[in-house]
Amino acid sequence: MLQNRRIFKKHQHTLPSPQTYPYQWLWDSCFHAIILSYFDLKDAKKELLSVIQKQFDNGMVPHMIYWEKETKTDFPVIEWGKEDTSTITQPPMLAYVVWEIFKKDPDKEFLKKIYPSLVKFYNYFLAERDPHRNHLVSLVNPDESGEDNSPRFDVSLGLPAKHSFEENFQKRLELIEHNKECNFDTVLCMRNFFWFKDVPMNAIFKENLEIMSKLSGQLADKENEAFYQDKAERAREGMRELMLEDKVFWSIYFDSEKGSFQKVKIKTWAIFAPLFAGIPTKEEADYIVERFLLNNSEFNTPFMVPTVSLAEPSFDASNFWRGPVWIGVNWFVVKGLKRYGYDNLAKKITEGSLSLLGKSGFREYFNPLTGEGLGAKDFTWGGLVLDM
Ligand code: GLC
Repeated sequence: MLQNRRIFKKHQHTLPSPQTYPYQWLWDSCFHAIILSYFDLKDAKKELLSVIQKQFDNGMVPHMIYWEKETKTDFPVIEWGKEDTSTITQPPMLAYVVWEIFKKDPDKEFLKKIYPSLVKFYNYFLAERDPHRNHLVSLVNPDESGEDNSPRFDVSLGLPAKHSFEENFQKRLELIEHNKECNFDTVLCMRNFFWFKDVPMNAIFKENLEIMSKLSGQLADKENEAFYQDKAERAREGMRELMLEDKVFWSIYFDSEKGSFQKVKIKTWAIFAPLFAGIPTKEEADYIVERFLLNNSEFNTPFMVPTVSLAEPSFDASNFWRGPVWIGVNWFVVKGLKRYGYDNLAKKITEGSLSLLGKSGFREYFNPLTGEGLGAKDFTWGGLVLDM
């Protein structure tokens, strides 16, 4: 964490990987703050105060900040349409992390400082990412999920189950161009180009709304305390109403030709994401765990948790978000399992995560069959094992 730390114009933050990801990323910084909270809460707070510096007027927190442009790294130059930030966001984990920090150190000054940005951020999602008012937020680009080339997005991108990393990247670059054409009007962009309601994103959203209610309560903001509690409940209901089928939650998109929502029944770790937010009933949770997580032909691989089921035609043990294990995903799954009392299974996944780091080092992702380390080196997310 210290090696990856940078301070630019007093803004202290951590690079996910100096060689591959030499900038500040939104959900990475949330993970970093969780990790840093085990060492020094001041650094955890600084990481979050840095990531909100470039918040847009409409409340969106961009998913990337280019504090300093790098030319000698692996990261491709992407024309987002803005000079020093990207123009999309990432899973809204900010409130969750602020709450984790607050539980360790009930520092109301820090809370007061960051709270207005949090309110603007979550209200942005409510106002601009839910145009149909079904209480679920939408993505304008798969990258907003944090799982850039996950097979969940294949159909919406018009891609077959098997395609190259490059083909996928091109499709996502096209969406960035469309976003520019729409002048970053997400509602317009979602209507015309890409519209996807993702399960992990919405589960994370629901959990964070609930936490926003708690944070509002700490600041005696009664109105927002009730407001966010209500919105969290509605997000939970929205997920159950539109995504649930036979005990499993599936991401959805609106098919304008058919005039209805379509479920994307591609089996990825997203099946376990609602556990993180306490959305399934105990009976549904038991089913999800037994049927998928403990199934040797699906997710019970030698190294867990693969991001895509072995049974999917798109499964690829070494391709980014199309099969490999990511420690960030394991963290979400472990939190979800503990919430439902699956402590032994949670422990198994935590120990498996530790053994991956021991075997292959702090790599970005890992082959779920062999444990081989892949992608970026000196990658920070491994530190999340501290919090599992
Ligand atoms: C990749 C990941 C994304 C992460 C970023 C920086 O794009 O898919 O989730 O935020 O790298 O680590």
